[in-house]
Order: sequence, then C-alpha cells, then structure tokens
Amino acid sequence: MPPPLLLLLLVPLVHLLAPALAETPDHYAVRYAPPGAETIAAAAQEYLDPTYPLPGPPPAAKTCTVPVLSYSFASTYGAAPAKAAYAPPAGCPAPWSLVVLSFSAACAGEQYDRVAAVWLDGAELLRTTTAEPTPDGVAWTVRKDVTRYSALLRSPPDGVLSVMLENVVNDEYTGVYNVTVSLEFHGTPAYISDTTSPSSSARVDSPDPAPPTLPESYFQAADLILPISEATSNSGYWFRIQNSSDSRSKLVTIPSNTYRAVLEVFVSPHANDEFWYSNPPDLYIQENNLTTPRGNAAYREVVASVDHHFAGSFVPFPVIYTGGINPLYWQPVSALGAFDLPTYDIELTPFLGLLVDSKAHEIGLSVVDGIAEWLVDANLHLWLDPKSSDVQASLGRYKTPRLSITRRYATQLLDGSFSIRAKRKSAFSGWVKSSLGNLTTEVETELETSSLVWFSNGGKNKTVELRAEQETEVVVRSETRKVIGKIETEAKYPLWFYMDTEDGENGTSVVTGSLSHSLNVETEVKSGSFENKAKLADEQSAEGWMVVKDHDVVNGSATTTQMYRYSDDRWSYQRTIDAVDGAVLSDNVSESYRVQVQDAANTFCLSGRRCGDGTASVAERWVEVAPM
Ligand SMILES: *[C@@H]1O[C@H](CO)[C@@H](O)[C@H](O)[C@H]1NC(C)=O
Ligand SMILES: *[C@@H]1O[C@H](CO)[C@@H](O)[C@H](O)[C@H]1NC(C)=O
Ligand SMILES: *[C@@H]1O[C@H](CO)[C@@H](O)[C@H](O)[C@H]1NC(C)=O
Ligand SMILES: *[C@@H]1O[C@H](CO)[C@@H](O)[C@H](O)[C@H]1NC(C)=O
Ligand SMILES: *[C@@H]1O[C@H](CO)[C@@H](O)[C@H](O)[C@H]1NC(C)=O
Ligand SMILES: *[C@@H]1O[C@H](CO)[C@@H](O)[C@H](O)[C@H]1NC(C)=O
Ligand SMILES: *[C@@H]1O[C@H](CO)[C@@H](O)[C@H](O)[C@H]1NC(C)=O
Ligand SMILES: *[C@@H]1O[C@H](CO)[C@@H](O)[C@H](O)[C@H]1NC(C)=O
Repeated sequence: MPPPLLLLLLVPLVHLLAPALAETPDHYAVRYAPPGAETIAAAAQEYLDPTYPLPGPPPAAKTCTVPVLSYSFASTYGAAPAKAAYAPPAGCPAPWSLVVLSFSAACAGEQYDRVAAVWLDGAELLRTTTAEPTPDGVAWTVRKDVTRYSALLRSPPDGVLSVMLENVVNDEYTGVYNVTVSLEFHGTPAYISDTTSPSSSARVDSPDPAPPTLPESYFQAADLILPISEATSNSGYWFRIQNSSDSRSKLVTIPSNTYRAVLEVFVSPHANDEFWYSNPPDLYIQENNLTTPRGNAAYREVVASVDHHFAGSFVPFPVIYTGGINPLYWQPVSALGAFDLPTYDIELTPFLGLLVDSKAHEIGLSVVDGIAEWLVDANLHLWLDPKSSDVQASLGRYKTPRLSITRRYATQLLDGSFSIRAKRKSAFSGWVKSSLGNLTTEVETELETSSLVWFSNGGKNKTVELRAEQETEVVVRSETRKVIGKIETEAKYPLWFYMDTEDGENGTSVVTGSLSHSLNVETEVKSGSFENKAKLADEQSAEGWMVVKDHDVVNGSATTTQMYRYSDDRWSYQRTIDAVDGAVLSDNVSESYRVQVQDAANTFCLSGRRCGDGTASVAERWVEVAPM
C-alpha cells in the first residue's frame, strides 16, 4: 500500500538484470483478470475474511439499524475524512445487548489496496484495508461487534462519524471505493436486564460464602472512552509515526472515580514499513549501494506510556494487505485480519495511582525501530465507580522493563542472513480502593520474538520467518491478597514465506513463492467458580507464481487454503476454504455447541463473545449444527 505521491514519483526499475529482491516492490496491483474470476457471473465478486460469526441478538430484542454514511472515495488523497452526523436510535435506547458496525465496500476497475478507518468523535471503531478490485468489480462487508464502544455510541446527540480512505484515481488506476457504514443496535430484553450478574450476587466484601469474583467491569463495556488520537482530523485522527524517536501523545484528564483502565491500541504500518518483517538492515542496503528506503531490519514493537513511563507493549500481528507479497494469494479470501485489523489491549489499571488526581496526564505511543510510517491511535476505556466521586490508588514498585535484543547479521554482496531475537518481560502492580473494595491488579507480560530475513541466489531469493509470542496474565487480588480473578492470554503469530525472482520476457520478472501465516490466541478467564477457555486458530497457506512489471501483476496463478477454528467451553466453529485463481473451490463450515442447563441468574458474557454460563452444571453433550 504505497502512499500515492511516492508511487507517482517512483522511478521505473530497470529490469535488464533481475533486481535484488530488496529493491523490488512488495505491493502490487493486479492488471489482468484471473481466469477463475471469468467463471463468475458478471456481478461483482464477493471477497471475504472468515471470522467467527457474530452472535445473534437475544430473542425478542428490539433491533434498529442506523445508516450513517455513504461515500464514494475517488480522488481523496490528502483530503480530510468523509463525515456524517450520528445520533443513537431513539427506538432502541441503551443499554444494548449487541451493537454491530457494518462497513460495506464495492469497487470496480484497477486500484491499489488502501487503508481506512472509522472514528466516532475521534475515537476509532474500525481499522480496515480494502480488497483490490477487478474490472468486473469486487464487494465485501466487514461486520464488527462494537458493543464495547457503547459509551461512545450512546453519548453524542450530535456525534460525528468519520471515515478516511485516501485513494488516487487517474486514467490507469480507475477504481473508486464506494463505502457505506451502518450501525445495528439490539436492545436488552427485560428478561436479561432483570437478572443479576455473578459479581453482584457474590460481592467481594460480602459475607456470602460463594468465592469472590472479578468485578463486573471485566465482563462489561467501559463507562467512558477517551480517544488517544490527533485532535484535528484533516489528515485523519491517527498519529502518523515517522521514526523510532517519534513518540506521539495526548494529554487526558480522567475522572477521579476511575477504578479500571484499559488502553486499546489500533495500528497499521505503511510505506517503508508495510513489510517491516521482511526489511533488511541498513548495512546490507549500504554495502550493495541499493537505494531502497525499506530498511532498519525486521523487528518492531509498539510501546504505550503513561507520563513517559513504559506501561505496556506488543509486537504487532503482521497483517498483509491485499496487494502484498503476491496479490493473487488474496483473491477472493483476504489475508488474516486485513478487513478488520486486530487491536491490542493494555491493562493500565496498575497505573491509576498516577492518573486519578484530576490533573492532565500524557498517554504516549511509539514504535521501536519504526520507520515511516505507522498509523497509530488508541481508545482509553475507563470504568467509573457509581457509588463514589473519588477512588484512592497507588502504583506499586516500578521499574522500566528492559528490551533484550540480539542481532546476528551475515552478508556477502546481495546474499545475506539477518536474524534477530528479542525479549521483553514486564510486571506491574497497583491497588485501587473504590466501593468495590481495595483491589490490587498485577499485570505480567512476556514478549518473545525471533525474526529471520534471508537473501540467497545473488539476492533474487528471499525467505522470511517471523515468530512472535506474547503471554499476558492479569491477576486481581482482594485486600487480604486472595486471588479473586485471573485472565491469561497467549498470542502466537508465526509467518513464513519465500519469494524467488527470475527474469521474464519484455522486462518482466517472474516471482514464485509460498506462504503460511497464522494467528493463534488462547484466553483463559477464572473468576470465583467460573472458568472459560477460548481458543482461536486462524491459519492460511498459499502458493503460486506471478509475472510482474514494476508494480503490476500481468499474469499468474495461485492457490490459497484458509482454516478458521474457534472454540470455547460452549461453542466450536470451523470454516475451511480452498481458493484457486480467484475462485472459491470449497467452503466448508461446521459448528457445534454444548447443550446445558441454563441458570439465568448466573449468566454473564465475556466481552465480544457469546454469553458464558456461570454454573458448573453443564451437560456434556455436543450438538452438530447443520453445515451452512
Ligand atoms: C459507485 O458509486 C457510483 C455513484 O453512485 C456508481 O456510479 C458506481 O457504479 C458505483 N461503483 C460500484 C463498483 O458499485
Ligand atoms: C523523527 O520524526 C519526527 C517527526 O516527523 C522528526 O521531527 C524528527 O526529526 C525525526 N527524527 C529522526 C532522528 O529522524
Ligand atoms: C558501491 O559503491 C562504491 C562507490 O562507488 C564502490 O566502491 C563499491 O564497489 C560499490 N559496491 C557494490 C557492491 O557495488
Ligand atoms: C532460488 O529460487 C529458484 C526458483 O525458485 C530455485 O530454483 C533455486 O533453487 C533457489 N536458490 C536458492 C539458493 O535458494
Ligand atoms: C490497599 O491494599 C494494599 C495492598 O493490600 C495496601 O498496601 C494499601 O495500603 C491499601 N490501601 C488502603 C487505602 O487501604
Ligand atoms: C514482448 O513485446 C513484444 C513487442 O511489444 C510483443 O510482440 C511480444 O508478444 C511480447 N512478448 C511477451 C511474451 O509478452
Ligand atoms: C499467462 O500464463 C499462462 C501459463 O503460462 C499462459 O498460458 C498465458 O498465455 C499467459 N497469459 C498472458 C496474458 O501472457
Ligand atoms: C469440503 O468438504 C468436501 C466434501 O466433504 C471435501 O471434498 C473438501 O475437501 C472439503 N474442503 C476443505 C477445504 O476442507
């Protein structure tokens, strides 16, 4: 996804000799109709990114759909975002059991992939990238559960929803992206709002013999969300981070009765860092007199800070946009997360001791080793004590966690092997005394990454291997040091691919390659007698060849297999898709659920998921759901 200006100024590469792979673009536009697409009727082809289907609204819930914005993004490069007025639906007042944001797009012609975001009053709701169109047209819809943003959605009587999608349309690149955004609100039927949650039936400090549980906030949307983003929207609300010393921040004053805080970070790398996981170190570029600005080696980490104190970090999941590596891999199944980029939650509750003094504090975001440019912003989710106007809080012993990083580089002209190992371990704790009690939150995170970028065959073959793993444990203790809840998350994202290039005819190159990519996340929640384990494994593998001329793919063939698997204590869902040359060969869905005795008084929901069951009395029977 090149910034359009850079694209127009690009000096055409001379292909008399196949160039070093480090110099060739990794992002392309497809300039021919894949044979598979011709077998599809003239109608626009539906593109997709399989994800867990959103839960249906509860029976008898009132539903209202609010169309918010409809806009054709043509020559929008450098323009301010498209805006539309937003107000919550009068017919479906909060609280909502489910709110879904629907982002539908259609495009025909030729065009690059583009990044887009949806903000409500400067707080981001969705980060997405577009599919690349074909002359016959493509269309797709992203449906995202945005219930966790209820605080934003219910407040503004005169809200402004904005969508930024910078596009360039000219004689060659004709694709205009038509986008519509709507919000679907599902009410909370009385039979749900009347039931009590597990924590109110077993309060931390209650004499009830039931084991103490996590505060309700762990299962409910925040009371207030503050955007950590650019104040003016002319070039989007995102911060445009240019280099590793470029830290962007926002001053915020949070209510003095805040008892929990989570920072949710949105991030997408572009231009010289779109393929950061395959960038060679600068030394390789200099030694070979290359001119590519895509350097600084292949490690990146996004860091969040509170008043310049390190507060949390993550290695971003390497989302491949639809023009990336080999665009034929992503027709019509997009790469993992490309339509709904993952966001990253950082538990900031231990830091509330620094924040609840009614003064302004600085929340900062930066990218370790980043080069231009990273589009980053965040939402600060806050939970407020309904029973008091102040909490007391204090950060425990604090030490900035060290990043330990080892780099092993070997080069011989255009051949080279660049390996990096990085590790960061952090542990923070802090207590907050509110009407929920005096709770201590301990957050431990361990991040481990290994990266390899290997050029061989005189720089014409490239192999990339990235393994990033992150483990986070949040433990909440009562004043007597008793553990009342624990949330463990383990995320792993291995990426492996190779690209070999050879000279083709008429100044083209022929690139062959193969790729495998996965996103694995396991979450385990324990609270009192409640336990739930959720597991996501989203995997793709692809292989194929393409003939490229500069940034254009003029011929090729590719196959992609996608396997999406989700399971928790109640549900199991799997979808497998085989695609060849732009057409879906098979698309198999299987789903099963465990039948159980429902105790309405003990039902509660994990954020963004179907309702779990607080009872231990579950029948061990799995029921297959007929394939769709
Ligand atoms: C986009 O919208 C314009 C204007 O309504 C319309 O002419 C065009 O056909 C639409 N394109 C696609 C691909 O739907
Ligand atoms: C990093 O980027 C910022 C913002 O564009 C710029 O002011 C600064 O000079 C840059 N620093 C380096 C070392 O390039
Ligand atoms: C790079 O350029 C320098 C100066 O022109 C030259 O001495 C050197 O041989 C070149 N290196 C390569 C690998 O071409
Ligand atoms: C480079 O790629 C070509 C084409 O895929 C392959 O035949 C060759 O074995 C590769 N060479 C090396 C050194 O990896
Ligand atoms: C809250 O609990 C922590 C740890 O148990 C303790 O150090 C602190 O003094 C308590 N705060 C108050 C206000 O009681
Ligand atoms: C190469 O270009 C020439 C002249 O434009 C054309 O006649 C020939 O068909 C092309 N070859 C291929 C393989 O595209
Ligand atoms: C694309 O490649 C296939 C297989 O090599 C070949 O049959 C076809 O003619 C090529 N198409 C073009 C437009 O060059
Ligand atoms: C889908 O199911 C069919 C019939 O059972 C099978 O032939 C095909 O291989 C399956 N496809 C995938 C991608 O699993």
